Amino acid sequence: MKKTILITGGAGFIGSHVVRRFVTNYPNYHIVNVDALTYAGNLENIKDIENKENYSFEKVDITDLSAVQTLFDKYKPEGIIHLAAESHVDRSISNPLEFVMTNVIGTVNLLNAAKTIWNGNYEGKRFHHISTDEVYGALGDTGFFTETTKYDPHSPYSASKASSDHFVRAYGDTYGMPVVITNCSNNYGPNHFPEKLIPLCIHNIINNKPLPIYGDGKYTRDWLFVVDHARAIDDVYHKAANHATYNIGGFNEWQNIDLVKELCKQMDEKLGRAEGTSAQLITFVKDRPGHDLRYAIDATKIKEELGWEPSVTFEQGLAITIDWYLNNQEWLDNVTNGDYQKYYEKQYSLV
Ligand code: NAD
Ligand code: TYD
Repeated sequence: MKKTILITGGAGFIGSHVVRRFVTNYPNYHIVNVDALTYAGNLENIKDIENKENYSFEKVDITDLSAVQTLFDKYKPEGIIHLAAESHVDRSISNPLEFVMTNVIGTVNLLNAAKTIWNGNYEGKRFHHISTDEVYGALGDTGFFTETTKYDPHSPYSASKASSDHFVRAYGDTYGMPVVITNCSNNYGPNHFPEKLIPLCIHNIINNKPLPIYGDGKYTRDWLFVVDHARAIDDVYHKAANHATYNIGGFNEWQNIDLVKELCKQMDEKLGRAEGTSAQLITFVKDRPGHDLRYAIDATKIKEELGWEPSVTFEQGLAITIDWYLNNQEWLDNVTNGDYQKYYEKQYSLV
């Protein structure tokens, strides 16, 4: 009998890399990808593994309790790796309730379904919740988030993720459920939806469109290559003690403006443009409300306890990412049609 693991959000950016890793590396697991296929979910992201015999897909909205219960009755999973979420801060500012529904209610639905199916028998079981460093709030110019930093979310997105983390811990404490949580910094890489800073700028550089920089551009993020995040999730899923929390980060801080200038430089080379051409597209726009100044992860715990550290330098990761977008312009065109176009026009008509 294969061990069944449900991976939620596996048609999204990070989830697709996690699904690929688990399907490829663990033929003894049956991986069930559970995704509602919202605007951010795209089965094209994992088309290379869709015919593997240890892979199944289920289109389920995790806010639908009875659909979630039916899914758990059908597969009786030993493991859950939960990535499904509304993930974009700007969208959470326009529509917070959607974030409460998926990120909070959806997570509680999964916890309840796992609790019911496991019925107190937690041997060999695991509920791994994927969260973000944004739950810790914002740092000043110095310091790092550790696993014991107090939660202080500022955006509806980070508040909904913080709430889901609390529920996961509460189910661990109250019912003894075998939960683990990881809080990761900003990811980048192939299949990243072009509403987030790096793929948005790559897309706009290709199309000679303005590169919108919020405020003065001095906001800082710690960037991690998505494949390294998927490997960290694998390590934590298999090696962590129950109820553990690990921070995951890239040891790689960039101010947004410097990052976008670096991107412009690399894209000029790849597109055969004169140096400085793409940087002329940089446009400072109205700031994001409640914009967190700086995120930076102290990932010492996962390094010391589980031996994980990033394997790809930022230079390598960015080059792989740019090449992927240049070679997959049809993917970009497909995901930027329709609904996304409407969102984009609304968001940046503020400019
Ligand atoms: P994403 O927006 O690219 O993908 C989210 C996926 O979840 C999509 O496939 C979508 O269809 C699915 N989904 C959304 N609502 C759903 C619902 N109600 N039911 C079922 N499926 C639903 O997100 P991502 O960037 O890949 O993030 C994945 C997870 O990692 C999220 O939990 C996010 O909070 C967390 N995270 C992301 C980052 C980052 O930099 N992107 C960093 C740290 C943590
Ligand atoms: P984003 O990729 O949305 O991730 P997060 O808000 O989760 O960190 O944004 C990364 C940073 O880039 C953040 O400081 C906001 C900024 N940003 C811009 O300056 N312009 C943009 O168009 C976007 C989408 C983000």
